[in-house]
Amino acid sequence: MRRFALASSWIFPVALNRLVLYAGTSPIGKENKWLQRVKKSTWEGVWIGPDLTCLKEAEEIALNQDVILFYIHGGGFSMGHATMYMQSFRLIIETLYKVYGKKANILSLEYSLSPEQVWPKACYEAVDGYRYLIHELGIESSKVVFIGDSAGGNLIASALLILKDQRSNEQLKELAPLPLPAGAALISPWVDLTPVQTTHQSDTLSSNLLFQCLNQYLADQSMIHHPYVSPFYGDFSSLMCPLFISYGEHELLRTSIELFISNLKESGNDPTVLKGENESHIWLIFSVMATSRQVFDKDINALIKWISGNVINFEPK
Ligand SMILES: *[C@@H]1O[C@H](CO)[C@@H](O)[C@H](O)[C@H]1NC(C)=O
Repeated sequence: MRRFALASSWIFPVALNRLVLYAGTSPIGKENKWLQRVKKSTWEGVWIGPDLTCLKEAEEIALNQDVILFYIHGGGFSMGHATMYMQSFRLIIETLYKVYGKKANILSLEYSLSPEQVWPKACYEAVDGYRYLIHELGIESSKVVFIGDSAGGNLIASALLILKDQRSNEQLKELAPLPLPAGAALISPWVDLTPVQTTHQSDTLSSNLLFQCLNQYLADQSMIHHPYVSPFYGDFSSLMCPLFISYGEHELLRTSIELFISNLKESGNDPTVLKGENESHIWLIFSVMATSRQVFDKDINALIKWISGNVINFEPK
């Protein structure tokens, strides 16, 4: 009886999943010298870059970089952490410098996970993290590129819509509006939270898992079509900064991402699309999910090339 109660409460699976994920993805060895944590009253994050000795130094370095990547991790809004893709983060920073001559650091958002915190908290933490870059540190928006995978891609797309709404709302304009970033990359983004029809796709995601994540994240299910919950239903017309979207041929989210891409095109956007043949969820950022290391290298390099081509070239209106 006791055991049943434990297993049926949310605490057990969420805590266990978080632990397993953390054990498999926590930074190792010298990677710990790449990290400086930033804690503010409304949000938290981690600066990631080579040899950061203290936060003040990380912030000073950030001002002199060519590119700042604002990263939001995935994990169904309930798992994962800001430093979970260190291998990819290092590869992106090192390649931007070696191949493209651009100095880059990453600010990775450590947003509040559900079920302890529910929607819309993480969306506003994302906006506050970006506000810190622009208004507190004074970094030019033309140097900032947003990147998010899975649920993090959802938060990136929601943050873009919040920025757009704040710019067009006369009352909110008074509050020093935030410019759009130089670009946004959505990696296997979970843009539509309405239940997925089970299809033939083979993927690490299942509709059950997504449904559990949804129930933990969204207290009021009647909000499911709200654009900050499911950016799929948002209006991206006349927004927009350059977009990059990747998804795998075999992923459960494929249909919704393809529809999202065609909606974006209809509303006047021209996203750069990378479809991974034979690939499944988030292979582009998490090499263990890719069918081979070669595919991972090729595809993450396509993202890096896109990043290098977009910063500084984009002038927000
Ligand atoms: C995808 O899988 C098919 C069947 O296994 C194979 O023939 C094809 O070469 C694969 N494509 C890539 C890009 O690996």
